[in-house]
Amino acid sequence: MTCAAIIVAAGSGSRARRASDTVAKQYLEIGGKAVLLRTLEQFLANEKIDRIQVVIGSQDNDLYNEAIAPTLTGQLAEQAKAKLLPPVHGGDTRQISVLNGLKAIKTENPKHVLIHDAARPFITDAILARCFESLKEHKACLVATPVTDTIKKVDAKGAILETIDRTTLWSAQTPQAFDYAFILNAHEKAFNQTLHAFTDDASVAEWVGEPVHIVEGSPSNRKLTSQEDLTMAETMITPTAS
Ligand code: CTP
Ligand code: MG
Repeated sequence: MTCAAIIVAAGSGSRARRASDTVAKQYLEIGGKAVLLRTLEQFLANEKIDRIQVVIGSQDNDLYNEAIAPTLTGQLAEQAKAKLLPPVHGGDTRQISVLNGLKAIKTENPKHVLIHDAARPFITDAILARCFESLKEHKACLVATPVTDTIKKVDAKGAILETIDRTTLWSAQTPQAFDYAFILNAHEKAFNQTLHAFTDDASVAEWVGEPVHIVEGSPSNRKLTSQEDLTMAETMITPTAS
């Protein structure tokens, strides 16, 4: 069985951007290492991943080469040589970036694909292992965590309309793991029907009617979305950084 990973890194990181930032969040260093590099290393080090396709912004070739350079000479050099495909360019939405990545790995003929946000550098081997386990039985799997906050539905004026029962609510994370042929087909179908607003891949699978199974994620597998997330990430890493 071959398993590919797609790491989407073609966003502009607008919500996380500070006035002083000249690059998107995936190229910022936390604990002295680019976010994208941290994410990539987790996939390079995992023995079950055979190929890795990173999807980048069309202007970002130099940034990408600079960010991943340490893998080409470091401890993971052998894995990078064997697994890392040349980057491809993304599109205006995450959905299109994923589709471009899926198309690019067609010639690799993977059985499974894990689709992951570059902006989630705290992905662990344990979560990846749970994805592989779930893929033995299911075509579509979603890493997620149970919602722990009390959730309110609010109107445009800020008044609470309803408190939603959270016992059935989960927060979607990545990776989202699929049978490759299935998810490529589903994404192509969505794109061809000009449905371009899916914010994750599980939604695309749901849209074509495929049951999606939950794989337990972790609160620490957080996405770096805001400036506060970047600050928090720095504190998560600094104590153990060598
Ligand atoms: N992404 C992508 N192509 C896009 C938009 C997003 O590859 N057109 C990627 C991002 O690089 C990120 C992941 O999808 O790794 C999750 O998206 P998000 O956290 O929303 O990142 P951005 O879209 O870059 O940030 P923002 O929405 O704040 O602008
Ligand atoms: Mg976005």
